[in-house]
Amino acid sequence: MKYRSFGNIDWQASALGFGCMRLPTQDGEPGAIRENEAADMLHYAIDHGVNYLDTAYPYHDGQSEPFLGRVLQGKYREKVKLATKLPCWEVEEKGDFDRLLDEQLKRLDTEQIDFYLLHALNKKSWKKMHSLGVLSWLENARSSGRIAHIGFSFHDEFPVFKEIIDAYQGWEFCQIQYNYMDVKYQAGKKGLQYAADRGLAVVIMEPIRGGRLVDPPEAIQSLWKKAPIQRSPAAWALHWLWNQPEVSLVLSGMSAMSHVRENVAAAERSQVGLLTQEEQELVREVREAYQALSLIPCTQCEYCLPCPNGVNIPRILQIYNDSIMYDKPEYGIKGYNNWIPEEKRADQCEVCGECEEKCPQGIAISEWMEKIHQELAR
Ligand SMILES: NC(=O)c1ccc[n+]([C@@H]2O[C@H](COP(=O)([O-])OP(=O)(O)OC[C@H]3O[C@@H](n4cnc5c(N)ncnc54)[C@H](OP(=O)(O)O)[C@@H]3O)[C@@H](O)[C@H]2O)c1
Repeated sequence: MKYRSFGNIDWQASALGFGCMRLPTQDGEPGAIRENEAADMLHYAIDHGVNYLDTAYPYHDGQSEPFLGRVLQGKYREKVKLATKLPCWEVEEKGDFDRLLDEQLKRLDTEQIDFYLLHALNKKSWKKMHSLGVLSWLENARSSGRIAHIGFSFHDEFPVFKEIIDAYQGWEFCQIQYNYMDVKYQAGKKGLQYAADRGLAVVIMEPIRGGRLVDPPEAIQSLWKKAPIQRSPAAWALHWLWNQPEVSLVLSGMSAMSHVRENVAAAERSQVGLLTQEEQELVREVREAYQALSLIPCTQCEYCLPCPNGVNIPRILQIYNDSIMYDKPEYGIKGYNNWIPEEKRADQCEVCGECEEKCPQGIAISEWMEKIHQELAR
């Protein structure tokens, strides 16, 4: 395994971390982890040098933390750092901080959580957490030894990311969504650099865009075939990240032993600057070729909002575009039905045309809403 410096913390992280959000499950039931198989995968990763496991309160319907508590008993716990996250959406009052952390320590069957994050911060949740005094609570939790390091994970735009970092000198690490397609999305490359420049370790989530970058459509496969060194699409996505010095650790949510073996092997070869100029240029070509497959020219400018009927137009267009671009209809169906509440779905459109008057790209939004609902609603 290769190890990398971890911000200002005096510890070396394995290049690859294990994200415990996509463990193998029975019959697609998120809470029914196939424990023997998942345990073999984790043990293989740890035996090959992975020293950072990432979980969270809600993963696998709340079963990821207790599963880790069981699987790490004995010699494995001391070989890894354990990261989990405060579910900010469960916090209504100050007393919830201790209640949730104590429950997580019990679930994980550990005395101390090595890396504790505020989960999925955005503008709204950050404001709420901050006003409830989360920062002084985190420092107390650290002084009492229940957590060791303080960080946050993030899903919002760069200015919010900057605001959160600037608000507190004590952040030690953060976790952002970043991959070769999402260079300008959410915190993006700007966020990576901003955090790294301030001495934070930066942990990467969704490096393979949650699995969308594997099994690419023909147009992308033919580009990868041009590469001087042949790699799988997953390996390209991971190496593109490891190539960058600001990246401290790449988390992958591996759901099969074959993923663990392949990603561990890739991590063993990883290094900053491994990709040649020619290879980086190829990744840029792949990004552009994916973007060219996008059917609807939506730029997510949000000028179409607010919709008088509450339709979440940009998010719906994005989910649909992604399912076409990555040739993954199943992800489109899952995203539409799981992430868009019924009152914000495309069938709420009453074809008033207000959004179309405001759309700078001239997109026939109401026609798309009808088509997308027909194709994705279940
Ligand atoms: N804090 C947050 O808000 C937040 C949000 C998202 C994620 N996370 C954390 O970050 C971790 C990483 O994100 P992610 O799970 O989205 O990572 P990812 O690596 O982008 O996606 C994981 C998926 O990629 C596919 N995959 C991985 N390795 C592969 C390989 N070698 N060959 C073929 N397919 C492969 C699998 O898809 P299939 O299962 O479809 O085969 C797997 O489920 C999560 O597990 C979680 O711990 C945190």
